[in-house]
Amino acid sequence: MLEYRGYDSAGIFVPGSGAIKAVGPIDNLAKKITATIPGTSGIAHTRWATHGEPTELNAHPHTDASGSLWLVHNGIIENYREIKEKLLSQGITFASQTDTEVLVKLIGTLYKGDLRQAVMDALLRVRGTYGIAVMSQEHPDEIVVAKMGSPIVLGIGHDGNFVASDPSALLAHTKDVVYLDDGEIALVTKDGYSVISIDGEHREKLPEKVEWDIEAVQKQGYEHFMIKEIFEAPEVIANTIRGRLLFDKGRAKLGGLESVINELASLNRLQIVGCGSAYYAGQVGRYLLEEYAGLPTEVELASEYRYKRNLPDKKSAVLAVSQSGETADTLASIRSAKQMGVLTLGIINTVGSTIARDTDAGVHNHAGPEIAVASTKAFISQLTVFVLLTLLIGRERGMSQEVGVEIAEALRTLPETLIKVLTQSEEVKAIAEKYANYSDAIFIGRKFHTPIAHEGSLKLKEVAYIHAEAYAGGELKHGPIAMLDTNFPIIALCPQDDVYEKMISNIEEVKARKAPILAFATEGDVHITELATDVVFMPKVHPIVQPIVTTVYLHLLAYYVGLAKGLNVDRPRNLAKSVTVE
Ligand code: AGP
Repeated sequence: MLEYRGYDSAGIFVPGSGAIKAVGPIDNLAKKITATIPGTSGIAHTRWATHGEPTELNAHPHTDASGSLWLVHNGIIENYREIKEKLLSQGITFASQTDTEVLVKLIGTLYKGDLRQAVMDALLRVRGTYGIAVMSQEHPDEIVVAKMGSPIVLGIGHDGNFVASDPSALLAHTKDVVYLDDGEIALVTKDGYSVISIDGEHREKLPEKVEWDIEAVQKQGYEHFMIKEIFEAPEVIANTIRGRLLFDKGRAKLGGLESVINELASLNRLQIVGCGSAYYAGQVGRYLLEEYAGLPTEVELASEYRYKRNLPDKKSAVLAVSQSGETADTLASIRSAKQMGVLTLGIINTVGSTIARDTDAGVHNHAGPEIAVASTKAFISQLTVFVLLTLLIGRERGMSQEVGVEIAEALRTLPETLIKVLTQSEEVKAIAEKYANYSDAIFIGRKFHTPIAHEGSLKLKEVAYIHAEAYAGGELKHGPIAMLDTNFPIIALCPQDDVYEKMISNIEEVKARKAPILAFATEGDVHITELATDVVFMPKVHPIVQPIVTTVYLHLLAYYVGLAKGLNVDRPRNLAKSVTVE
């Protein structure tokens, strides 16, 4: 169930039966397990390589010098080289290239029969991030787990207790979960659990209920999670806006932001941080907040924000956007903003995730669990929350009730529009099969659609391995146009909005270079058919929700190109669903 978090190798350890490891997807490990493994407890891991290639030796779990302690780890031990040097000087040898093996070897040198104590002593010498689970041959009924940066959740069941990286893996057994916080260490047995801090102080941690069912994390008859999650779009938008619109007043109501509404209304500046698709959702948010709410907004790549000098003032806030709520760079950005005393906010899909718990206030986007690595439903739900946020703040900063009512109406009718969009999936599939043979592509868009062009190109990279780039339409002639020829298609996003004419001029520049043009245009646009090689017509909607509609077409396009190329669209190579390392 957790394979989408990392899938280049896997392993399992059962006290009394030892460890089995395999390279590649879990199926390869399953093939090596030819008989039922006797035992009532164990630990397992799916890997996303950080130190050392995906090999059997580097796969988890790793063991200590005595071969008695076994450990699985999610994260990075930053000072593993220094520790390894010390252990080597004590005659300890290493079988793998991993930082993880160094940690369990260190624990082994400190172990005197109390596993949790040895783990505590070792972690006091460690710098970095970790979610770990450790077992010993001597105490098969105990698992010690610890958290710093990477997610760890306990599952409290009737017929046993469990540990996982996220709740979706526990749903087959229980919906009662305990989220560990950074610096906490738990001892889990079949009958109970106890939690202490890294310096030994007892922590009272009560279980919380997970809100969604196991069905939500299954394919339900679809061939892939990605296409299932694309087809969930109408329902997801309906869930994202439910109870959050006051249609007659033209206002939005976001419970998670009520405590900070005054600060939001008088902000001087908003800084949005995120990675990948979440960053592009933030970019769309910026256009909308500046255009409709008059709020000066910047968008920062979280991996840059956390290391650059930031100059917040008393009336600014930092807003994190994240599907998983566990992305290391985004989490670190929020923590550095908190250290600067800045108000921190979140648009987070995963309830109970670390960023959701660390931010001062925020909005859950209720897209439900997203399993496919390529983010689709969570992305359009993030865009929808930005429309709600624009309405909420805009109506506090001079937006008229009339404009507010228009925007609320545009959101109310959106699920219906998306049902219509999805009826065109076969049409998009046919076009995708035609464009699947190209090795390069450039997406162009303007204003609200510039970030959507980037999202479209990211998806084609992720699930179809095509070298796709994206530019604001007006930027093409300043260099990228040099690459164009009959083998280099342009994918143009040109709905009939207030920059349509400008996009048409850019498309004419491209046509003059004989590059194939696939245009996503507004139904009834007769002019575009004279210019483009292929056109997909989209329903006409309010400009503020058009980016959401256009995105669904681009997600379908990427999915069907990946499918036409016979690729694993749910688990693209070299990726992981939640990037908990920096
Ligand atoms: C998107 O399809 C990718 N999976 C990736 O770029 C993702 O958006 C990024 O890693 C951020 O993840 P988050 O939203 O969980 O923070």
